[in-house]
Amino acid sequence: MKVTIVGAGAVGASCAEYVAIKDFASEVVLLDIKEGVAEGKAMDLMQTATLNSFDTQITGTTNDYSKTAGSDVAVITSGIPRKPGMTREELIGINAGIVKEVSSNLIKHSPNVTLIVVSNPMDTMTYLVHKTTGLPKNKIIGMGGALDSARFKFRLSEALECPPSDVNGMVIGGHSDTGMVPLTRLATRNSIPVSAFLSEDRLNQVSEDTKVGGATLTKLLGTSAWYAPGAAVSALVQAIACNQKKMFPCSAMLEGEYGLNDICIGVPAIIGKDGLEKIVEIELDDAESKKIKESAEGVSKTNALLEL
Ligand SMILES: NC(=O)c1ccc[n+]([C@@H]2O[C@H](COP(=O)([O-])OP(=O)(O)OC[C@H]3O[C@@H](n4cnc5c(N)ncnc54)[C@H](O)[C@@H]3O)[C@@H](O)[C@H]2O)c1
Repeated sequence: MKVTIVGAGAVGASCAEYVAIKDFASEVVLLDIKEGVAEGKAMDLMQTATLNSFDTQITGTTNDYSKTAGSDVAVITSGIPRKPGMTREELIGINAGIVKEVSSNLIKHSPNVTLIVVSNPMDTMTYLVHKTTGLPKNKIIGMGGALDSARFKFRLSEALECPPSDVNGMVIGGHSDTGMVPLTRLATRNSIPVSAFLSEDRLNQVSEDTKVGGATLTKLLGTSAWYAPGAAVSALVQAIACNQKKMFPCSAMLEGEYGLNDICIGVPAIIGKDGLEKIVEIELDDAESKKIKESAEGVSKTNALLEL
């Protein structure tokens, strides 16, 4: 399994580190446009190989796509992150051009690649990749829901005063402060609905904290977060590499599912060797259906800014 990560910045490097530590890929190529950065991070990571006991070969390159040839999976983390006070949508002007160019270069050298889109605004960048690359729809996955769900589970564990591993839950909808739909109704602690332990007010607080999870970190760090994003991407890469058929909320191109068409937005999906193998349609209650429609309207507005 060869994995390429374009954008050896904070999220890209963190993803490379988690992929290497889990030791399921033979090769990771980091590519960046900034001279020497990908080579330097690859070398630094390789010097952790004996300490962290992995055999994955990590190499770096400055914009030489021939080094990415034959990649099975490629992660797109290239582009600018938000600064405190910015929305993800404000990044579209710069990131759309980068994502379009990067995805086209990747496919030229790896025609059978599965792309994982991370750059923000992620749902719109995923839509852009669908519209401009001609890759089959199962080969384009937008990563947002895996991260948002991990943040949701962490917030629930805080409220429940229990370890995060006791908690299960999902966030669907757009990957934005206003678009996320945390499914509190379906979240559980060891199969018991969380509503058995937490008041409606506390659950609403958990939802609100989850939705601004990224913004909260951006304010603290001065730039957007990278550990949980990197770990979330690496979990998707692993699900593909190891054909795990795991369910993650991912940004998928919808053709009628959830009553939506011609839009990429977070829905539960099965991830395995063929990429996004299946969209899982779950029954939403009226309030959840209304929220996902509103979320889709927000994503569509951002999509309309694309010059396709
Ligand atoms: N989807 C998510 O859940 C999620 C989570 C966190 C961050 N993000 C997004 O991921 C992106 C990366 O975030 P980051 O914190 O790693 O940023 P960063 O600035 O640390 O890294 C971005 C890297 O991309 C490189 N780059 C820019 N243009 C390039 C090009 N044309 N080709 C190759 N490399 C190029 C830059 O040189 C830089 O090293 C941002 O858009 C951010 O908003 C998404």
